[in-house]
Amino acid sequence: MGWLGRDIVSIKDFSKDEILQVLDKAADIEKNRSKYSELLRGKVMAALFFEPSTRTRLSFEAAMHRLGGSVIGFSEPSMTSIAKGETFEDTMRIIDGYCDVIAIRHPEIGSAKKAADIVRNPVINAGDGAHEHPTQTFTDLYTIRKSCGRLDNLTVGFLGDLKYGRTVHSLAYALSHFNATIYFISPKSLKMPDEDLKELNKRKVTYHEEEDLLKVSNKLDVLYVTRIQKERFLNPEDYHSVKGVYKLDPSFLKHTKPELKILHPLPRIDEINPQLDKAPQSIYFEQAHNGVPVRMALLAMVLGGK
Ligand code: NCD
Repeated sequence: MGWLGRDIVSIKDFSKDEILQVLDKAADIEKNRSKYSELLRGKVMAALFFEPSTRTRLSFEAAMHRLGGSVIGFSEPSMTSIAKGETFEDTMRIIDGYCDVIAIRHPEIGSAKKAADIVRNPVINAGDGAHEHPTQTFTDLYTIRKSCGRLDNLTVGFLGDLKYGRTVHSLAYALSHFNATIYFISPKSLKMPDEDLKELNKRKVTYHEEEDLLKVSNKLDVLYVTRIQKERFLNPEDYHSVKGVYKLDPSFLKHTKPELKILHPLPRIDEINPQLDKAPQSIYFEQAHNGVPVRMALLAMVLGGK
């Protein structure tokens, strides 16, 4: 499938080869930034953020600016006509006429797909509820490849909120292309959803479920830590029962391979003690910064810049 005009709604829509094309483009952009600085001159990205965001929104905006394009949008939907009762459909149809590409984050599962079905321009899913976050996955894979030197045959642990963590769902699907062995480490109430496990079974992914991190920590090449997604809990008591269940500090490294890489999509709450930040294993800030070249690559590709 070609890239021009393509929606980026689910990581499941991308083959291994296509994923690698994005990572290679991002690597070239990172190396030769000036070559790309006028690529999207005259193009406009609409950044529609119906949910809080720091990294995703600002790295999308930085990416568009660094390609010579410009940005419109909102990060506070209460300041738009949605507050007057305008429907999602009408809002999308109107904004579609003001831009060339739409990046959207929305609390509802399936919202990016819904937007893509309404508008003519390409839609990029910047997170749809607890479902998926494909551009974070491209960023995660880029970071893993850069720091581990490869993507194939890695043992990857996912830690924390695997039920509501959309970055986990998308990255786990993507790893099915790379012969990963996965450890899903979480309290029982936050385990990976059954429908995602079914999909991984279909894709013949080897995975194990575990509650105790220290039982498996020495097997891991990558540990992907996540925040407990407080805002997604229907019942605050359920959140309080799992809050703070995993807390990593430098002593954790006694239980791991020395070359382990620790990722986190961020924001963190208390699951990684800042004392761990200086360890060479901790690459989550670099991961956040990689969001810019990766989103530059995706914007360039869907908008047809060479
Ligand atoms: C994540 C998200 O919004 O899903 N953050 C991000 O985009 N980097 C993770 C989170 O909010 O915990």
